[in-house]
Order: sequence, then C-alpha cells, then structure tokens
Amino acid sequence: MKKVFFSLIAVAIACSALIVSCSKSNEQDITNPPGNGGGNGGGGNTCDTVNMKYAADVLPILQANCYSCHGNGNVSGGVSLGSYASVKTQADNGNLVGTITHAAGYPAMPQGGAKLSDCNINKIKAWIARGAQNN
Ligand code: HEC
Repeated sequence: MKKVFFSLIAVAIACSALIVSCSKSNEQDITNPPGNGGGNGGGGNTCDTVNMKYAADVLPILQANCYSCHGNGNVSGGVSLGSYASVKTQADNGNLVGTITHAAGYPAMPQGGAKLSDCNINKIKAWIARGAQNN
C-alpha cells in the first residue's frame, strides 16, 4: 500500500523533475560556478560555514526553500520541518542531507525546484557536523 503510493509519487516527481531540471540546470551553472566569483547576490565567491547556527543560518534557508511544503503546518510526504525538533529528526536520520544533495535513494528537494546552492548545502552540512544544535 505504502509502496504503491510511493511509486506513484516517485513517477510524478520524476516527470516534473525532468521538466524543471531541463529549464533550470543551465541557469544554475552560470549563477553558481564552483569557486569562481559567481557574485550573484549569494555573498560573492566566499561561503562562510564556520560555526553555523540553527536560528541564524539554517532556519532562513529552510523557510525560503522548504516551508511552502514542510512548514507552517504543511507536511508534504508526512514530513514537517516547522520546528527545531522536527528538523533535528530529519538531520539525524540522514534524510535532510540526502534530499538536498539529491543523493541516490532520496527524493530530491526542494521538490520541483532548483537544487539549493552549494553554499547553502555546505552551511546545513556544517551545522549538522557540529551536532545539529538548537542554537
Ligand atoms: C513543492 C513541495 C516541496 C518542497 C518545496 C520541498 N519538499 Fe520535501 N517533500 C515533498 C514531498 C511531496 C515529499 C514526499 C516525497 C516522497 O516521499 O517521495 C517530501 C519529502 C521530504 C523529505 C523526506 C524524505 C524521505 O526519504 O522520507 C525530506 C527530508 C524533505 N522532503 C526535505 C525537504 C527540504 C530540506 C526542502 C527544502 C530544501 C524540501 N523538502 C522542499 C515536497 C516538498
């Protein structure tokens, strides 16, 4: 039952991901070239991942990219990221990094949208590496 539901969703996601990724992938390469002055609003070519904090660094990324489906009472796929405790759960079980890095075996997030910037992904990883604290 759950499997059937899952594969239906997966097919739907795969279809929409195809369309979206074709239109967005070029754009991403241009605005976010690795280590090469892509100064397009995202803080130039530096990415500060030192001492990342939940409230100041991680939460704004989630609010901007994930809350439309996983915050403010939205629980797409049964997943909420609307509180520290729920984010911590997804960080500890590996789903948070798996989904935003588009790792094999995880649904790619944000669903139907462009992948987070490398900088934002690294910020979230750095916060998790320090214990995913409520700071
Ligand atoms: C447009 C809606 C939408 C957006 C935006 C979105 N998600 Fe999701 N998310 C979903 C849906 C739908 C599922 C269930 C997908 C599935 O199970 O295949 C899901 C599932 C997940 C899961 C559970 C994965 C698992 O293996 O159980 C995590 C974690 C997650 N999303 C994190 C995020 C993060 C982090 C962001 C922001 C960077 C984000 N999502 C943005 C719709 C969205």
